[in-house]
Amino acid sequence: MISIKSGRLFIGELPASLLAKKFGTPLYVYDEETIRLKVRELSRGISFRPLKVYYAAKANTNLSILKLVREEGGEYIGVDAVSPGEIEAALKAGFKPEQVMFTSTSVTDEEMKFAIDKKVLVNCDSLSQLERYGRLNPGSKVCIRVNPDVGAGHHDHVITGGPDSKFGIWVGDVPKAFEIASMHSLKFVGIHEHIGSGILETAKFLEAMGVLLKIVEKNRDRLKDLEFIDFGGGIGVPYRPGQKPIGMKQFGEAVSSTFSSFCSGFGKKLALVIEPGRFIVAESGLLLCTVNTIKQTPKHKFVGVDTGFNHLIRPMAYGSYHPIELAECSGAEEEAVAVCGNICESGDVFTRDESGIAGRKLPKIREGDVLAIMVAGAYGFSMSSTYNSRPRPAEVLVNGKEARVIRKREDISHVLFGMD
Ligand code: LLP
Repeated sequence: MISIKSGRLFIGELPASLLAKKFGTPLYVYDEETIRLKVRELSRGISFRPLKVYYAAKANTNLSILKLVREEGGEYIGVDAVSPGEIEAALKAGFKPEQVMFTSTSVTDEEMKFAIDKKVLVNCDSLSQLERYGRLNPGSKVCIRVNPDVGAGHHDHVITGGPDSKFGIWVGDVPKAFEIASMHSLKFVGIHEHIGSGILETAKFLEAMGVLLKIVEKNRDRLKDLEFIDFGGGIGVPYRPGQKPIGMKQFGEAVSSTFSSFCSGFGKKLALVIEPGRFIVAESGLLLCTVNTIKQTPKHKFVGVDTGFNHLIRPMAYGSYHPIELAECSGAEEEAVAVCGNICESGDVFTRDESGIAGRKLPKIREGDVLAIMVAGAYGFSMSSTYNSRPRPAEVLVNGKEARVIRKREDISHVLFGMD
C-alpha cells in the first residue's frame, strides 16, 4: 500500500526518498499490492457471472503491469486493446487471443488484418468499418460499438457518448449495422459502449446501460448469436481531497441486478463485460521528482522540478488535480506554491485547475527535496512523450520490501532513434 508514516512517504515498505536515491528521478513507481486489490475489488464487487473485466491497456501498458493484472484477474480478466501495439503487448503479457478485444477508431484494413491474424475479436466503430471488416473476414464473429447518446466524464475531452463524440455507431444507425452484417454473414457475438472516463456516479453508467439493453431487446431476433454485452470502462477514482470513490459494492450490486434481470427477460445468459483502466492502476502509481529551482513572481512561488508535462500531461491536458506529497516532510509550516516542470511552456504547471495555475498548500519545500505526484498510475507514463528532447523516466514496481525496474530509463538514443 502507499502510506505516510511520521511524515515519510512509503510505497509498500520502501520510503519514496530511498527509491529516488536508488533509481534516480524522475521516476514512476507503482505498488503491486494496490493493483492486486483493485482487480479483486472488481470481481468481488460485481457478483454477476459470467463476468469479464477487460483491462483498458491504454491506462498503463507496461508489460509487467499487464502480467500482474492477468495473474490477479484469473478467469475474469481480458484486455481492451485500441491499437495493434496494445494487442501485441497483451499477447506478449500472456493473454490469450480470445481474452483480447480490439476496440479502435478510424482503423485501417491493415490494422484489422493484424487483429484477424492474431485471432483477436474486432469491435467495429463505424458502419464503414463494419462493411470493410465484413469483406476482409466474412462469416466471422464481430462486435459493434454503439454511441448510446449518453456521455459522461471528468472533462469534455474524455466524454465518448453523444453527438459531439466521434466514437461508435450512432444509436439510430444500429439497424443498418445488422443489414451490413447479414450481407457478410457476420455473427454478432458482442455489443459494446463506452460513454466516457472518470465517472464517479453510478447513475450515469446505469442510464447508458439501459440504452444499450433496450437496443439489444429491440433487436433480439437479429442477435441470436450474442454472447456478451460490454458496457465499457470509465469508473473514476478520487483525485481531490474530499472526492468520494464510486463505491464498488453499490456499483456492483446495481450493475449485476440490472443485467441479471435483463438476462432473465432475454432468455439467454450473456456475459457481462466491463473495461476499467484507471480504476485498476491509477492509485497504485506516483511520479517522483526532485526540486531544482524555487523562485518568486509577484503572484506565485514557483517550485521547479525535474519532470514536466512530457511525463505527466493530465494537469496540462485536462486541468486535472493530482495530489502532491513530500517524500520526507520535516515541518508542519505550509505555504501555497505552484509546482512547475522543466518544459519550455508556461502551461507546464502541475498545480492547476480548470481556470489555470492554482496555488497548492504544501509543507515548506527546499531545493533538492523529492516530491511525489500522486495517483499517476493511469494515463501517466502511457501518455508521456519526449518533448523538449527529454528521455522518458524509468518505471519501478514495488512489492513489499522489493523494488524492481520494469522499464529502463530512456537515454538520448531513444529520443534520436530513427534519425540520421
Ligand atoms: N474502454 C474504452 C473503449 C476506452 O476508450 C477507454 C478509455 C476505457 C475503456 C477505459 O477508461 P477508464 O476506465 O480508464 O476511464 N487520458 C484520459 C483518459 C482517456 C480515456 C480514453 N478511453 C485521462 O487521463 O483522464
